[in-house]
Amino acid sequence: MLAKSSAINNCCVVGLIMSGDTATLNDPESVSPWRMSVAPMLDWTDRHCRYFHRLLSANVRLYTEMVTTGALMHGDQARHLDFSPEEQPVALQVGGSEPDALAACASLAQRWGYVEVNLNCGCPSERVQRGAFGACLMAEAHLVRDGVAAMRDAVGDALAVSVKHRIGINRVESYAFVRDFVGTVATGGCSVFIVHARNAWLEGLSPKDNREIPPLRYEFVYQLKRDFPELTIVLNGGVKTDADVNAHLQQVDGVMVGREAYQRPWWLAEWDNRYFAARNAGRSREGIEAAMRTYLAGLVARGVSPWAATRHMLNLWKGAPGARLWRQVLSDPARRALSPDALFDAATAARCSALCAI
Ligand SMILES: Cc1cc2nc3c(=O)[nH]c(=O)nc-3n(C[C@H](O)[C@H](O)[C@H](O)COP(=O)(O)O)c2cc1C
Repeated sequence: MLAKSSAINNCCVVGLIMSGDTATLNDPESVSPWRMSVAPMLDWTDRHCRYFHRLLSANVRLYTEMVTTGALMHGDQARHLDFSPEEQPVALQVGGSEPDALAACASLAQRWGYVEVNLNCGCPSERVQRGAFGACLMAEAHLVRDGVAAMRDAVGDALAVSVKHRIGINRVESYAFVRDFVGTVATGGCSVFIVHARNAWLEGLSPKDNREIPPLRYEFVYQLKRDFPELTIVLNGGVKTDADVNAHLQQVDGVMVGREAYQRPWWLAEWDNRYFAARNAGRSREGIEAAMRTYLAGLVARGVSPWAATRHMLNLWKGAPGARLWRQVLSDPARRALSPDALFDAATAARCSALCAI
């Protein structure tokens, strides 16, 4: 277990200078700790992935995969909750609906040192629906309000309580639905809303299709910020470029990126400079690799397979010469028994062979 975190907003931002055609802000108070975050993603954003992402950006806010209240209360808590202090600021995402269970999990999040506990109201999977939580909770705003109030009572101001949700469920098309959801839940003491800007269709679509087929309606998220200026509103869904981010940051407090961050991690290396005005000159992919070698050696010493972490790094060189060869070597099952140093040496040799061939 980690020592309790001392502050919610532990992001060391000194000011903000957005590049190019966007605004210049130099007021440290105006830079939200939620300005840029990587989305919670099951099977992807585990502790090893977060460690890797933290090397890329010191300020980005990181989220765990969703963990159910049942797993947290009756399962292996250390396995679900342990993380490296270097990953901070980290938020724990929970899935559940019972206020007492949510309160107990918020207390666990506090004990483990997370800076935020986030309630999932956006997952459309059938398994989650059978458990009566995730996106179907959007139809029960009063229950969500009671859940966040219970979490807030449990942890006070020691950590942030937030909700991640959709703009609607099934074929509800009206803005009023999400406006009323946010308005009701806010009365329970939640002031941070992360909004995946599409509906969840609860029948007939897989979770993957539910991230692609329901149309994105960014205007709904922008309108939430206009209607609730006192709340922190973070936009999520389909964000792929700096142009996207800059456009959204004109309207809302923060942007959460999921798939593009995972599939193009080197993008994160620009975020401290670009969105937090925190200077990180000198960061290189070679430097990230070197830091990960050290981390992997620590994993091996604890009997953990390096693949647990290297699988998240496969796209580090994406877009650079030799990236495909580097990835092939790193993901080669026949090389899983190699030491991290031997594996990275082989991957680097393969990548550089492509450079020589140019
Ligand atoms: C593999 C995968 C797993 C996901 N798991 C979760 C999850 O555990 N909790 C959650 O709130 N959202 C989850 N999501 C949804 C993302 O957090 C995000 O809302 C969605 O991918 C849209 O953002 P994007 O277009 O930037 O990827 C998952 C997405 C992916 C691709």
